Amino acid sequence: MSVYQQCINPTCRKNFDLSEILHACPDCGELLDVEYDWNKITPPKSIQHFEQYWQQRSNPHRLSGVWRFHDLLPFLPLERCITIGEGQTILQQAHRVAPYTGLKEDRLFLQYEGLNPSGSFKDNGMSAAFSHGVFVGAKRAACASTGNTSASLAIYSACTGLMQSVIFIGSGKIAYGKLSQALDYGAKTIQIQGDFDDAMERVQQVSKEQGIYLVNSVNPFRLEGQKTIMFRVLEALRWEVPDWIVVPGGNLGNSSSFGKAFIELHKLGLIQKVPRLAIINAAGANTLYRLFEQEGLRWNGGNYDKTLVQKFFAQMTAEGRKASTIASAIEINRPVNLSKCLRALDFCNGVVREVTEQEMLDTKAHVGAGGLGCEPASAASVAGTKKLVAEGIIEKSERVVCILTGHQLKDPNATVAYHGTDTVFFEDTLGKRGVNTTEFANRPVSVENDLEKIVGAI
Ligand code: F0G
Repeated sequence: MSVYQQCINPTCRKNFDLSEILHACPDCGELLDVEYDWNKITPPKSIQHFEQYWQQRSNPHRLSGVWRFHDLLPFLPLERCITIGEGQTILQQAHRVAPYTGLKEDRLFLQYEGLNPSGSFKDNGMSAAFSHGVFVGAKRAACASTGNTSASLAIYSACTGLMQSVIFIGSGKIAYGKLSQALDYGAKTIQIQGDFDDAMERVQQVSKEQGIYLVNSVNPFRLEGQKTIMFRVLEALRWEVPDWIVVPGGNLGNSSSFGKAFIELHKLGLIQKVPRLAIINAAGANTLYRLFEQEGLRWNGGNYDKTLVQKFFAQMTAEGRKASTIASAIEINRPVNLSKCLRALDFCNGVVREVTEQEMLDTKAHVGAGGLGCEPASAASVAGTKKLVAEGIIEKSERVVCILTGHQLKDPNATVAYHGTDTVFFEDTLGKRGVNTTEFANRPVSVENDLEKIVGAI
């Protein structure tokens, strides 16, 4: 077998065929990786190898920002890989946002994943998981979602007609932009009375029972696609590795895939330097922050302290503690990719921080004012950078790439509320809280329909 699935647990390491549909190792319950035998598949000799494909943009697979890098995720023949034009994203040098973070003007870069067909980074992974689902002959695909994964599954389903989509969402937990996409694209939408963590548990049960192909990030093929976000960052930097990658953390699929990307690039000798990774939680959904920074949980060669994790989750259940943040995309307390994420943090000498609602929304306003609007969760990456610069962990002169995971239009309510009112209130199990907007909001001016008054207001 030149490509196979493999358990990431070093004491298990069982291999499974490419065609098996698995969400975890049947033996030990750990997550699975897609592995390649590079003795049987010829890897690229240098990272510049990919530049040859720039001349082939009329070929949809070479235009795709995912499949252009097929040589580093060759689990299916290229002609069986499904593309709807994902990955046409840009890396913006954000000189107008950098000063807010404390970085030097030319040191901050924003990787704008909002440009994907469904408006978030999820399309990178979905093109890969969807291709695998179709390859194994699945007719239906499902996911639990805080909104973006579901929009992404729905668009692949709608564009190709190859698998029907079934999505599970928590009640009242999804931004309207995302819900509207799933409905418009014709996804069977199941709204569960509960939150994302409840929906995630249910979708795993249901998909197993009903033989529906699961496309959440426990699916190892999803993460193969998401590796390409890092390849495109390097491509945009003319193959120079930045000092830092900063990404919001929810279910921890993205950070896990970035770690895998750098492990593989390094192993294949395609990069020498490894960037540091910073993962940013919302303070109201901070499982990773607590476990990694406060409890000292570490990958430890794969033998991480599972008892600590179990105890942590048991206490969460006992306290009835639910994730709660205005950044609904990352409102997740039981991240399914925790173990892979620990591996990424280990390899990339990573750190984890949490940011408050105030920090996220203020930062989001600055990101928007810099020209590439994002949704609240995405702003966590820039807010986290600001915090790490203030702490002196990121130096002002270091080159930092923040991932803007989702488009500004995904959650217009959050944006309009911020700019339109002095305090954005939100209310949930933790009670009523407010974010003060008076410092950075761009208030709309209300004026009578009178020429003089209109001119006076400008
Ligand atoms: N940013 C956005 C915009 C997201 O939609 C998500 C996750 C994340 C960050 C976190 O990424 O899970 O890889 O750590 N959204 C998922 C969803 C959970 O269902 O759309 P992660």
